[in-house]
Amino acid sequence: MATPVMEKSDQAPEPGFADSPYITVTFRVRRFNPEVAAEATWEDFQLEIDPKERVLDALHKIKWELDGSLTFRRSCAHGICGSDAMRINGKNRLACKTLIKDLSPEKPITVEPIKGLTVLKDLVVDMEPFFQAYRDVMPFLITKDTNEPTRERLQTAEDRERFDDTTKCILCAACTSSCPVFWNDGQYFGPAAIVNAHRFIFDSRDEAGEQRLEILNDRDGVWRCRTTFNCTDACPRGIEVTKAIAEVKRALITRRF
Ligand code: SF4
Ligand code: FES
Repeated sequence: MATPVMEKSDQAPEPGFADSPYITVTFRVRRFNPEVAAEATWEDFQLEIDPKERVLDALHKIKWELDGSLTFRRSCAHGICGSDAMRINGKNRLACKTLIKDLSPEKPITVEPIKGLTVLKDLVVDMEPFFQAYRDVMPFLITKDTNEPTRERLQTAEDRERFDDTTKCILCAACTSSCPVFWNDGQYFGPAAIVNAHRFIFDSRDEAGEQRLEILNDRDGVWRCRTTFNCTDACPRGIEVTKAIAEVKRALITRRF
């Protein structure tokens, strides 16, 4: 298939701006449309683009100006909603937080869907197994007190600090879909579910830690983790995912949390 190219004249800087920041970049995008073909293929798009822009900006340009059928998820465009995790140059990242200049743009930049989840179309995967694992760990505060509290549930700054890191999760799935155990066995809860279980297991106000630990003691639970650190490397929020998993493993052995 001929490479769609955005003409330089479309994007050229205003006259008088001799130091154009624009460079030509090839985006090699994994395309899949089950209504057209059974197999995914690569398609190249060339853009004249400022390398200080983000991969999400490039995908928007492709969609709006070259091929409106290109399909991907995004919402906030600012690293908050977690909807645009994708494999960029072979690494899981958020497209909205990845600058083109940081990707060696003199070579084609590859953009693919995250791995381990069924691809629905182009860069969009079926997130349901991921969210089912999240729901399975009961990601909400549980107390045994049947009466509505008359005041807020207090905790010390130290107690709050205990699970601060895992509150930062935006459920982007970059960790889970970078995990080789998850690729090989879609039954594994995966790092993101464990991170979100950790967030409540170590919350002094919560009273269902034992239940969550038993859920993760399952054959598809924390013991599947092989400590490859892929998850920690992939997390766009800088969460120490492997450390959180290790803390859950330790809590399962000691029953102290
Ligand atoms: S732990 Fe990090 S990589 Fe995993 S889902 Fe949460 S934010 Fe995304
Ligand atoms: S679009 Fe929301 S995190 Fe990137």
